[in-house]
Amino acid sequence: MDTRVITVVGIGAEGWDGLTENSREALRAAEVLFGNQRQLDLVPGDEPERVAWPSPLLPELPGLIERYEGRAIVVLASGDPMFHGIGSTLAGLLGPDRIRVLPHPSSPSLACARLGWPLDRVDVVSIVGRPAAALNAVVAPGRRLIVLGAGKEAPIIVGALLAGRGFGPSRMTVLCDLGAVEETVQLGVAEEWTEPAASPLTLIAVECVPGPDAAPLARTPGLPDDAFEHDGQITKSEVRAVTLSRLAPLPGELLWDVGAGSGSVAIEWARAHPACEAIAIENSPNRAERISANAAALGVPRVQVVKGEAPDALDGLPEPDAVFIGGGLTAPGLLEHCWDALKPGGRLVANAVTLESEAKVAESRRSLGGELIRVGVERAAPLGGFTAWRPAMPVTLWTVRKDPE
Ligand SMILES: C[S@@+](CC[C@H](N)C(=O)[O-])C[C@H]1O[C@@H](n2cnc3c(N)ncnc32)[C@H](O)[C@@H]1O
Repeated sequence: MDTRVITVVGIGAEGWDGLTENSREALRAAEVLFGNQRQLDLVPGDEPERVAWPSPLLPELPGLIERYEGRAIVVLASGDPMFHGIGSTLAGLLGPDRIRVLPHPSSPSLACARLGWPLDRVDVVSIVGRPAAALNAVVAPGRRLIVLGAGKEAPIIVGALLAGRGFGPSRMTVLCDLGAVEETVQLGVAEEWTEPAASPLTLIAVECVPGPDAAPLARTPGLPDDAFEHDGQITKSEVRAVTLSRLAPLPGELLWDVGAGSGSVAIEWARAHPACEAIAIENSPNRAERISANAAALGVPRVQVVKGEAPDALDGLPEPDAVFIGGGLTAPGLLEHCWDALKPGGRLVANAVTLESEAKVAESRRSLGGELIRVGVERAAPLGGFTAWRPAMPVTLWTVRKDPE
């Protein structure tokens, strides 16, 4: 056996009985077995040597593997090791060539089998070690969700979150220890849920039902301004939609939202795809706190907030694929810092409202090129007994792309 290759065996709650012959063979050939204590206890006998994961695991993992180098290591994982599992972590750490993965059905597969739900039509969200607020991005009328829980309190947390979003009548099915003899199923309604799960190995299936207060939000940019908490310092809905179209988020890309105000641009960038990342930089402490609250309420708690004055606050941040400058455009060195940090092929969009920021944009365009547009929005509003157009302040948008290398 090539001891450089670590075998990762997916195991279900039923343990040894549910393993394929291939997986049993791998476990018999192991010289050392890694896993959490619950998983290790599922393998009968005292052989081979067992090592329970330390906590926290990630910082210890490379050293642990090094310590057992030269021996046949088998790692136990729950269900499918490549689905929110240790297999993915090992693939990232060692490279795919150094792992051999023997999967077991994932817990969402087992849940969909029990419920008769097509797995390809549900949104699966993990709240294991992550904020439950990520659910806010996927709650929508009629949608089916599967939430990977973290401990017995998970159904109470999920029920409260759904009720808070106006989806209190949603139906919840709490499935515990799927596949084991002690498997349990509890049924109920989100707004009435008070019971902890029967076991920490829990998964919550949700059928989203809106109540009278639900305000479902589209995934496309240009959400209504009142979807965000703000103090007036917000890029308005129509201008935001155009701004996001120019920023053009792609999955996996990182945005800097400089002078982020309410965070609306960073948040809509992150909502564009679960792999889109954003850092919001804001010098007002109150607004910075509001950005975190808005990001959670809109389902993207992963938006990182940097409280500080740009350009200094930009030092040390990972290089962005796109930059939006919504505030601080005239601060000395700010635009230059953003341009230098931008990756080749990246986009920079700056919105200007004042003469001073327009002058900065015009001057920068002379050296860097790019496109200038001006967006003016007028809203029909009452005027006496009639209706008239009320113009908002026009916004100049400068978009420039850095040459690819
Ligand atoms: C017009 S608002 C941006 C609105 C934002 N795009 C939104 O949709 O909520 C400008 C923001 O930039 C912030 N700001 C201005 N200069 C800054 C600087 N040098 N560093 C960080 N933030 C700055 C202000 O506090 C303000 O919140």
